[in-house]
Amino acid sequence: MSDVKASITAVGGYVPDYVLTNKALESMVETNDQWITARTGIKERRILKQPEQGSSFLGIKACEDLFSKTSTKPEDIDLVIFATATPDMPVASSAAYLATEIGAVNAFSFDLQSACSSFLYGMSLASSYIESGKYQNILLVGADKMSSIIDYTDRSTCIIFGDGGGAVLFSPNNEGLGLQDEILKTDGTGRQFLKIEAGGSQLPASEKTVKNKQHFVFQDGKTVFKFAVSNMAGVSDEIMRKNNLAASDVDWLVAHQANKRIVDATYKRMNLDSEKVLMNIQRYGNTTSATLPLLLSDYEKQFKKGDNIIFAAFGGGFSWGSIYLKWAYNS
Ligand code: UT7
Repeated sequence: MSDVKASITAVGGYVPDYVLTNKALESMVETNDQWITARTGIKERRILKQPEQGSSFLGIKACEDLFSKTSTKPEDIDLVIFATATPDMPVASSAAYLATEIGAVNAFSFDLQSACSSFLYGMSLASSYIESGKYQNILLVGADKMSSIIDYTDRSTCIIFGDGGGAVLFSPNNEGLGLQDEILKTDGTGRQFLKIEAGGSQLPASEKTVKNKQHFVFQDGKTVFKFAVSNMAGVSDEIMRKNNLAASDVDWLVAHQANKRIVDATYKRMNLDSEKVLMNIQRYGNTTSATLPLLLSDYEKQFKKGDNIIFAAFGGGFSWGSIYLKWAYNS
């Protein structure tokens, strides 16, 4: 094993201007602000209104924010990983377009899709590439235009999701800071509970699939909730034990923002104080691949060099996991 670790050296974030409030949803589906707030913690979410702009737009904006804060230049990037469940289009790599648009002319790039765990898995991948010595600067982008796959007449999904993007730069670190450990899992029996049924190779698009609304996200919320609580909390507790971390050793929990109640169950299982828990679900809802980098972007100024951070995510597949990382800089 090499002594080199992969640390985060810059972050960026972007959300579109348009705000979709709980109040506005009340006129679209049978719901109310009180129910949404109590059951999910969400007050509003952002929506990318321009129909011709896909997820790459959100990712590019997040990268622009990142590059405004670092001396690393786009041409210094070796690899761009675009974590997204809503690529601009099938087949043509959205990562390739994004990399070209931001001027990462010396990088190769690819998309990574594992629903809400895409960004977490991307952290593992970026880190492994750097530890191997193959690449130096890896840009990991997480962005999703969830509004493009949501049925705004389905109250079990439309209240939850929002659009957003985030980006982090991974670079080699010789001080022992950066990604320390990971536990990543999948369970394919979960795919019936959270999915878009049509549009893939199993059920290609047809008049019938459009009529049946099979191109929108379907979820059995109750079942997904139960799996999310037990698995995300379980794996976060497990990574602490594996690394001999007491609750007092953990500085921050950066958990996927799917439902405040899932995050609350996770930090309670870890015995953490609530002030160590990063939360922005109230403003953005569930932005899928963007939740973790948007948290980093919003809270960056509070992190200190050497802080112990536990990341956790759970999503479709099912897919989930936890990562232990030491923060590498003071802002
Ligand atoms: O990021 C990917 C992973 N996704 C998740 O982690 C999502 C996990 N699931 C959830 O977050 C929750 O299951 C939901 C927020 C989707 C739903 O919350 P819940 O507490 O599981 O509600 P429920 O589906 O059990 O419904 C409870 C009640 C029902 O009424 P009755 O049968 O008790 O009279 C529903 O009909 O709430 C009703 N309901 C609503 N009421 C107002 C369901 N959705 C709504 C709504 N507004 N939007």
